[in-house]
Amino acid sequence: MQKEIDMLDVQKIRKDFPILNRQVNGKPLVYFDNAATSQTPKVVIDAIVDYYSNYNANIHRGVHTLSQEATDAYEIARNKVQQHFNAMHSYEIILTSGTTHSINIVATGFTNLLSEGDEIIVSALEHHSNIVPWQMLCERTGAILKVIPMNEEGELLMDVYDQLLSDKTKLVFTNHISNALGTINPIEEIITKAHKVGAAVLIDGAQSCPHIKPDVQALDVDFYVASAHKLCGPTGVGMLYGKEEWLNKLPPYQGGGEMIEQVTFEKTTYAGLPHKFEAGTPNICGGIAFGAALDYMNSIGFDNIAQYENELLAYGTQKLLEIEGLRIYGTSKNKTSVISFNLEGIHPYDVGTIVDKLGIAVRTGHHCAQPIMDFYKIPGTIRASFSFYNTKEEIDALVEAVKKAKMMLS
Ligand code: ALA
Repeated sequence: MQKEIDMLDVQKIRKDFPILNRQVNGKPLVYFDNAATSQTPKVVIDAIVDYYSNYNANIHRGVHTLSQEATDAYEIARNKVQQHFNAMHSYEIILTSGTTHSINIVATGFTNLLSEGDEIIVSALEHHSNIVPWQMLCERTGAILKVIPMNEEGELLMDVYDQLLSDKTKLVFTNHISNALGTINPIEEIITKAHKVGAAVLIDGAQSCPHIKPDVQALDVDFYVASAHKLCGPTGVGMLYGKEEWLNKLPPYQGGGEMIEQVTFEKTTYAGLPHKFEAGTPNICGGIAFGAALDYMNSIGFDNIAQYENELLAYGTQKLLEIEGLRIYGTSKNKTSVISFNLEGIHPYDVGTIVDKLGIAVRTGHHCAQPIMDFYKIPGTIRASFSFYNTKEEIDALVEAVKKAKMMLS
């Protein structure tokens, strides 16, 4: 086995995650479904328990002590998100229920800003959550959806992107990292070129945020979206970063309490940012836990995380490719720790079921990215996605399990 890199004390880190001690089907859990959701460290679980045990209250609404404590903690969490993504202002961070909610705020908000014949560009590597809202926007406005195609390696054809861009292009959307293949897209180039034709850009960071610390000001991106549960936080909370000028242009997504300045039966005026987009009681505990998760990830360090996960990716790729008849989908040099693969002549679901019996969690299926599966003419893949708390020994266990599945199913 290759020498374990030493910038991360993985055995110490694993102790932070209670779930990693459990057994599944009588075997130690090997959790390789991190691209679907990451596991939760004790400090984040503690933040959730602390909130409900000590200061559970509604925010921005009361003068009583509990409400003020909850409000302070929620706004501190928003500031942590702002600092993490390096937004210029904390009011440019909208706390949402997750990436899908964030994308829908923008897609719905553009309804009155587009005209028939305007063009929207998405990439061939998108998750359904970054396809369907734009198709719905096109139906409402008569705008046209164009797609940057991909090659066999799972990389975008940037020369075709150049040809698609024109003064008709109003919006460009792509993920930072593909959830199905792990490809890291050249978002700096995508953003710069879109801005040259006056188009706004939204980057879906759901899969990049566990691995990379994005700097929204350096990227000069118009919108960036992510979910807390991909980076050691809870489900049901996420963020929308938008440049102030764009967030001011977009109308509110939902009407309700907290998003107003003044309500009469004749007319309502809306609150300023960020509250204009935060109608109703939010996921208060989730927001606070999101802040705790960012603190935890930053204490480990994103450079360390990336370096360690790259090591796991290289090791896993090499070991899996030693299995005859195994094909990896997504072979870009620029990729993160996601390995999507199939065994020749065997359905991915069958492999997933057998490896689960051996305690190993992988995702099987189309990964909410059916156009990518159509491109490769396959029903789906087996996807192993590694995190900084995984080990090479766990990869060895996966390789043995896949060999066993192959033997049983061939
Ligand atoms: N989008 C998540 C995944 O790729 C759920 O698994």
